[in-house]
Amino acid sequence: MHWTEEFFDEYYLKSSDPHTGAEQTARETGFIISKTNLPKDSPVLDLACGLGRHCIELAKNGYSRITGLDLTSAYLEIARDKAKDLPDPPKFIQGNMQEFNEEQAYQLIYSLFSSIFYFDDQHNLDIVKRVYNALMRGGFFIIDYFNPINFLNKNKLRDWYITDDEYLVLEKYQHNPISGIISIERIIITPEGRRIKRIYHLRDYTVAELRYHFESIGFEILNVYGNFDDSKYSLDSPRQIFVMRKPE
Ligand SMILES: C[S@@+](CC[C@H](N)C(=O)[O-])C[C@H]1O[C@@H](n2cnc3c(N)ncnc32)[C@H](O)[C@@H]1O
Repeated sequence: MHWTEEFFDEYYLKSSDPHTGAEQTARETGFIISKTNLPKDSPVLDLACGLGRHCIELAKNGYSRITGLDLTSAYLEIARDKAKDLPDPPKFIQGNMQEFNEEQAYQLIYSLFSSIFYFDDQHNLDIVKRVYNALMRGGFFIIDYFNPINFLNKNKLRDWYITDDEYLVLEKYQHNPISGIISIERIIITPEGRRIKRIYHLRDYTVAELRYHFESIGFEILNVYGNFDDSKYSLDSPRQIFVMRKPE
């Protein structure tokens, strides 16, 4: 089983850090709207939409043709329920981004909160090619990914936090500089004292490396930001956010 199939369960939702609240979601969605400035009936795809927080925020802002794709059916059910009273609710579809196969269907595809690059290099780049094919000419692709240089420079080996629901989360980090994989072991202690262990892996792609791959696939990079406050990317930025376009 691939680690994503175990990791993204109800314990992931319970143990996620508080960066996904309403205020942050509104900021991230506002960023997407301001960078693309698309008509509200543009077809848009949220790749790995999770609980659909950005899809729903876009729909609340009047965007009427939003699709959210995610692997985890249970997350999509929650998303559908949250969106059910909206006049134009997003369409939530279950699917694997590795198999996603559409031609010139969207004017914007975005993937936020490090929701991509869970596989080996070949499969990660294959997903980016699928995104390129699925975009209309002139369409936008926005990726928000953690900044591995900032992460590794902190040289943090462990971290812990307590969620609002009183789940205690302990994390241990390991980096393999040859494979480029950062492995995170997460121990979740529930309020009842149950101990759940999960592992996830992220590739340490830098901006320069991704820029090379995105441009090789055909994207035109418009800008790289370091956070959703419009700051330019630098080595100590928390995020790397690419705004790019498929040429006209
Ligand atoms: C870090 S969560 C973020 C969700 C959402 N983008 C957000 O910002 O709230 C990553 C999501 O990727 C989904 N995912 C993992 N592997 C996937 C795959 N192969 N295809 C589609 N979605 C996948 C998970 O189910 C999970 O909802």
